[in-house]
Amino acid sequence: MTSSYLIAPSIVAADFLHLEEQIALCEQAGADWLHVDVMDGHYVPNITLGPFLVETIRRATSLPLDVHLMIEQPERYLEAFTRAGASTLTVHVETCPHLHRTLQQIKDLGCQAGVTLNPGTPASAIEPVLHLADLVLVMSVNPGFSGQAFLPEVVPKVARLRAALDSLDSPAYLEVDGGISAETLPHMLDAGANVFVAASAIFHHPQGVAAGIQALREKLLG
Ligand code: DX5
Ligand code: ZN
Repeated sequence: MTSSYLIAPSIVAADFLHLEEQIALCEQAGADWLHVDVMDGHYVPNITLGPFLVETIRRATSLPLDVHLMIEQPERYLEAFTRAGASTLTVHVETCPHLHRTLQQIKDLGCQAGVTLNPGTPASAIEPVLHLADLVLVMSVNPGFSGQAFLPEVVPKVARLRAALDSLDSPAYLEVDGGISAETLPHMLDAGANVFVAASAIFHHPQGVAAGIQALREKLLG
C-alpha cells in the first residue's frame, strides 16, 4: 500500500504461538512497518523480547522493523539490535544522558535513528536533537503495556513537533504510539503525525488483523 501515511502494527499484542502467520496477515493487509516493543522490566514495568526474537522476526518478513527500545542504557544494545535486523532504532530521551551521541551511534550503525518521549516529558526535551532524528515518536500512553487509554493531552505536543520539524525542513517521520484506534487516529493525523502504531486496535480487532488495519487505513484516506 503506498501512502505518505504509514501503519505500523505493534506485534506486542500478536499471538506469539502463531507469530509468523500474524506477521503474514499484517503484510497481506498492507501494513507498512512492523513495530517491535522492547521492554526490560526496569525502564518500564513489563518485559517483552530482545535481539534474538528480532532476528527471528527479521527472517519472517521483509517489512521494515521499527524497534522501540524501552530499556535503560539502550546504547549497550544498539549493535545487537542492528545485527538482528532492525531498520529503525528508537530511544527514549528519558534514558539517554548523551542523546546526541546515542543518535549518532545509531546512524553510524546504519539504522535510522528515532527519538521518543513519554507523555509527561515536554517537547522541548528533544528539540535540540531534531536535526539528527530520522523519526520522532510521541508516546500517547505511558509505555509498558498495550491496551491503555489514549492520553488526549499529547495532541498539542504532536502539533508542536510537526511545526518544529517543518521549520527545519526535516523529512523525519512523526510517529505516534499508544491507544491509537479508528477513534483517536484522526486527532493525531490532524496534528501532523504520519506514522501510526497500533497493537490492540489491530491484533484484538473483533473481525481480525486485516479488518483492524483496514479500519485505521480508512481514517487515513479521509
Ligand atoms: C506501549 C508500546 C506500544 C503499545 C501500543 O508501551 O510502546 O507500542 O504496545 O499498544 P496499544 O496500541 O494497544 O496502545
Ligand atoms: Zn511502541
